[in-house]
Amino acid sequence: MPFPQQRMRRLRRTPALRRLVAETRLGVDDLVAPLFVREGIDRPVPIPSMPGHHQHTVPSLLTEAKRLSGLGIPALVLFGVPATKDPEGRGASDPDGIVQVALAELSASLGDELVLIADLCLDEYTDHGHCGLLGPDGAVDNDATLARYREVAVAQARAGAAVVAPSGMMDGQVAAIRDALDGAGFASTAVLAYAAKYASALYGPFRDAVDVTIVGGGDRRSYQQDPANRREALAEVALDVAEGADLVMVKPALTNLDVIAAVRRRFDLPVCAYQVSGEFAMVKAAAERGWLDGVAVATEQLVSIKRAGAEAILTYFAGELADALSG
Ligand code: PBG
Repeated sequence: MPFPQQRMRRLRRTPALRRLVAETRLGVDDLVAPLFVREGIDRPVPIPSMPGHHQHTVPSLLTEAKRLSGLGIPALVLFGVPATKDPEGRGASDPDGIVQVALAELSASLGDELVLIADLCLDEYTDHGHCGLLGPDGAVDNDATLARYREVAVAQARAGAAVVAPSGMMDGQVAAIRDALDGAGFASTAVLAYAAKYASALYGPFRDAVDVTIVGGGDRRSYQQDPANRREALAEVALDVAEGADLVMVKPALTNLDVIAAVRRRFDLPVCAYQVSGEFAMVKAAAERGWLDGVAVATEQLVSIKRAGAEAILTYFAGELADALSG
């Protein structure tokens, strides 16, 4: 065999050759930055399990959003932490609620320069920590929750969200929200459906970030998906597409690369993936100990998420990587 060792290595020889033949390119355009804004604080509060991230005040959120936009990041997704919580999660739809106030300020100062995505859920706002309203039996009441999601969607759109992103995994949530938005004159507000969202232990640091504890040590397995299932994810996505989703999401990302790939093959809408708080925290914790190179590992993971088929990736590494990618 003549020169067998050259067969595959010929095109790996130099950085320029590798760049020329790269099948997957990660750029700032792929990144969506999740941000937290908290009511009733006068300076940003660091989130211990998410190094580098804060619960922002409205002014510090504006500064951070401008910085990210300046780095070329096209979109952010916003989560709110209200000063008080109640059984209905009223802060989620209050026109003076923290996310609505923040969205109004963001859209006034950034306009369409940055895509403002509002996470649409109740768990940050309910005192019991569930993503919906509880019925008399203590279980999450799907249809009563949809009525609340409709109010939240309209409040977020009115405040300036370009995209609302329902993350509560109630059945029929996309249809309900689409109908509410259209009925209130927000036909151009898009819906990013957390279509295949698994019940995952990787959301732990996020729950610190939004001060959520589920009542009685409960979990979300009665509405989020069982990680054992892939076909069920395709059924979830099909429903959300039929109900009018404009973009669909798979979450968490790394543990579900097969799901991302399957969704990409079957549907022709933009597919997003969420590299969640636990995925971020694991890399950060190991990097802080000097056990691995955090930016290099994060880049490798995001490239694989993109290679699996995601068009856009929600990631807590967005700011850090935008710096590295443009520098
Ligand atoms: C629900 C919501 C969650 C996340 C995004 N939206 C938490 C949950 O379902 O428990 C998790 C995101 C992350 O871990 O980074 N509003």
